Amino acid sequence: MNVRDSEHMIAELKEKENYELTQDAKEADLILINTCSVREKPVHKLFSEVGSFEKIKKNGAKIGVCGCTASHLGDEIFKRAPNVDFVLGARNVSKITKAVNTPKFLGNDIDFDESNYAFADFRNSLYKTYINISIGCDKHCTYCIVPHTRGDEISIPFEIIKNEALKAVSKGAKEIFLLGQNVNNYGKRFSNAHERINFSDLLEKLSEIEGLERIRFTSPHPLHMDDRFLEVFSKNPKVCKSMHMPLQSGSSEILKAMKRGYTKEWYLDRALKLRSMCKDVSISTDVIVAFPGESDKDFEDTMDVLEKVRFEQMFSFKYSKRPLTKAATMPNQISDDIASKRLNILQVKHTEILDEIVAKQKDKEFEVLFEELRSEGFVAGRSDNNFLIQVKGSEELLGKMKKVKITNPRRMVLNGEIL
Ligand code: 5AD
Ligand code: SF4
Repeated sequence: MNVRDSEHMIAELKEKENYELTQDAKEADLILINTCSVREKPVHKLFSEVGSFEKIKKNGAKIGVCGCTASHLGDEIFKRAPNVDFVLGARNVSKITKAVNTPKFLGNDIDFDESNYAFADFRNSLYKTYINISIGCDKHCTYCIVPHTRGDEISIPFEIIKNEALKAVSKGAKEIFLLGQNVNNYGKRFSNAHERINFSDLLEKLSEIEGLERIRFTSPHPLHMDDRFLEVFSKNPKVCKSMHMPLQSGSSEILKAMKRGYTKEWYLDRALKLRSMCKDVSISTDVIVAFPGESDKDFEDTMDVLEKVRFEQMFSFKYSKRPLTKAATMPNQISDDIASKRLNILQVKHTEILDEIVAKQKDKEFEVLFEELRSEGFVAGRSDNNFLIQVKGSEELLGKMKKVKITNPRRMVLNGEIL
C-alpha cells in the first residue's frame, strides 16, 4: 500500500507541479520519506534517515515525511526533526500538492475521506498495476496500529477501480494487483450511495476486462473467506492462484486475545478447503510470535498449523509493542529472549518445509509473466501461483507471458528454460 501511495504522490507532483523523478538525493528539490509504523524498528529508522538526507540534500531542498508514522507522530516529527518541511499522513495522500506549497504543512487527519479522489496516473511497472480498492481498517486487532494511522475502512467506488484497470490495460498492463487492508471485506461501506457489491463480485466483474490476464490481491482476511469467495478464487482463470492468509497465531486463545475473529479450526478448515479446491494454489502467511501471554502450548499450535498448511511463503515477526494498541498494556509481555527462540524455531521449520516444496518444482511447467531484468543475464517474473522464476534472456521478454520448465529450483528463485 505504501508503494501505491508513493506512486500516487509522484503522479500528483508530476502532473500538477512539474516535478520529475531522480534517483540521486543530492540533486533532488524534494525528498519524500514514506514510512511504515507496523513495527517499532522502521519508526526509529525514520529519524536517522531524515538526518542523513539533511546532510546531503542541496540548499533549499524540502524534506517531507509521509505515511503511517506521519499519521501517528504528527507534529512531534517537527519537534524531533525541525528541518522537516511537511508531514503528510497515510490517507491524506491527495493533499501532497498542498503540502509541498505550504510551510510546515501537517496533514494527518485519519477521518479524511479520499475514497472518491481520482489520482493522476503514474506506475513503476508497465506490466503490473496496483489499484487501491479500500482504505483503512476497522478490525482493531489488539496488536495493530494500522486502524490508528489509516483510519476506518471505506471502499473505493467500483467505477473508479474499473476505470483504473481499463486505463492500465489500455497502456499494456497484463496484471492488476488489488490492494486493501481487508480486501475481502470490500463493499461493506462506501462514502456515497453505491450499488451492493462484494469482493467476489468485484473479482468476477474485473475479470471481464479484455486484455487483462491476471488479477492478484492482498490482503484478504481469513474471517471473510466464505465458500463463494473460495469458489470464485479457485474457478476464475484470471484470478492468480496465490492466496495470502495472515494466520498471526495458531492458538485459538491467542487469536481471541488478538481479536482476530476466527479460531485455529476455522483457519485450518479454510486453508485445507482451499488446497483441496485449488490444486496448484500457493498459500502465504504472516505470523507473530510472543504475543503477550503466549505459552509454549500456544506456540505449539502455531507450529501445528505451519505443519498442516505447509505455507509456500511465510513472513514472521516477533511481537512488537505499538502505541495506542490494546496489547501494549496487556500483562504477561514475553521476553525478547523467548521471542527470538520461538521465531528461530518457526523459521527453521518453515525453511525445511520450503526446501521440500522447492525440490518438488523440478520439471514442472509454469506460465510466467516476465517483469524484471536481473544480473548475469537473467530475466525474472512470477508464475500464476507467485513463484519467482528466472530464465536466461533479455529485455524483449519483459511484459511477455511464456511457458517455462523448471530445471534448477532454488530456495530464493526457481531457474528454468522457456519452452
Ligand atoms: N508486532 C509484530 N508484527 C505485527 N504486525 C502487525 N502489527 C504487529 C505488531 N505489533 C504484522 C502482522 C501483519 C503484518 C503486516 O505485520 O503479521 O499481518
Ligand atoms: Fe491491522 Fe488487523 Fe486491520 Fe490487518 S486486520 S490492518 S492486522 S487491525
